[in-house]
Amino acid sequence: MPRRPPRKPDATLDLSSHLLLLESLPDPFDPTGVFPRPGPVELEVGSGKGLFLSSASAAGSERNFLGVEIAVGYARLCAGKLAAGGRDNARIIQGDAGFLVRSLLPDACLAGMHVYFPDPWWKARHRKRRVLSEPFLVHAGRVLKPGAVLHVWTDVEEYFTEAMAAARATGLFAAARGEEAGEPAHDLDYRTHFERRTRLAGLPVWRAALERTAEPSAVRRVMS
Ligand SMILES: C[S@@+](CC[C@H](N)C(=O)[O-])C[C@H]1O[C@@H](n2cnc3c(N)ncnc32)[C@H](O)[C@@H]1O
Repeated sequence: MPRRPPRKPDATLDLSSHLLLLESLPDPFDPTGVFPRPGPVELEVGSGKGLFLSSASAAGSERNFLGVEIAVGYARLCAGKLAAGGRDNARIIQGDAGFLVRSLLPDACLAGMHVYFPDPWWKARHRKRRVLSEPFLVHAGRVLKPGAVLHVWTDVEEYFTEAMAAARATGLFAAARGEEAGEPAHDLDYRTHFERRTRLAGLPVWRAALERTAEPSAVRRVMS
């Protein structure tokens, strides 16, 4: 589905606390260090318009939420929403999630990961750009704490099947559990904007929760 350019955030908003640039992050990057309050950190990959980050960080959540979004306009839009909502437990990084997860995040630093409606990259020559590749999933297993859950939702069955097989091949996750979405109570009561769009169009969504089971030694074995 074609995407319209994102709205610009209100020019009077100060985005400096909520918008981080990947290129300015230290290596390694401790994600707990960017939040004023200590607490488990969950990462959302490809935050788009930021509905998940806004709703997950609302309602007095004691968890901290970090998004990573490659498109500058969407990252700024998310940061604007978080700043306007006064969310001190949510931040967005503008940059490539693959680089962040593979190269900057230390072992076992995350309490959860969310990948909702990742770009399917339909053309065969573009497939290597898919975020949910086996090397990415090995690093997802590395950065998640044992017991933490990786949530994968998509409207592309073939991508879902391929991602589940890649996750199984890492040996780092328990068998996928299905996830259910309830009936929305209001117009924005969806996990993300793409989930809203897909369900309103009457199309199916594939959802899974993958629990990270292996100990760090198993991660090292997979990566060696
Ligand atoms: C199909 S949209 C889904 C957005 C949102 N998750 C939702 O469900 O509404 C995919 C998003 O992932 C972002 N994206 C694609 N590749 C990325 C990457 N390597 N790192 C970070 N974000 C990425 C895109 O810019 C886009 O905003």
